[in-house]
Amino acid sequence: MAYSEKVMDHFANPRNVGEILDADGVGEVGNPQCGDIMKMYLKLDGERISDVKFKTFGCGAAIATSSMATEMVKGKTIEDALGLTNKAVMEALDGLPPVKVHCSVLAEQAIKSALADYYRKQGIDPTPIVGCLEEDCHGCGTGHCN
Ligand code: FES
Repeated sequence: MAYSEKVMDHFANPRNVGEILDADGVGEVGNPQCGDIMKMYLKLDGERISDVKFKTFGCGAAIATSSMATEMVKGKTIEDALGLTNKAVMEALDGLPPVKVHCSVLAEQAIKSALADYYRKQGIDPTPIVGCLEEDCHGCGTGHCN
């Protein structure tokens, strides 16, 4: 399966690349399958995500999904951002080849990780709100994060 035009567009012209120096939440996630890394910066205005930037040291599919994911959460509420799934991002990109599906998980996890950081900075335990992030639980298998 070839990449869709949307994937190619977001790979060639990624939106919201960079960093936010005074970010309210910063998340960093790595993909254990390939070692690629994504960093996500969020600026919040109350419950709303007023700005978002990312840096991805990874494959084209990871860059395209992070670009699309930032477009999908910008200006949205925290609740909307937490509901964003890698599947929704893939659909917005008109699909990804099956071997690249795992790359899209990075974008979803990076946003959640940045929101977890935002809550932690306020002294709030993020787990009940954000859920379990793979990087935190290392697949402990106890199931209490699910
Ligand atoms: Fe590493 Fe795609 S191959 S994120």
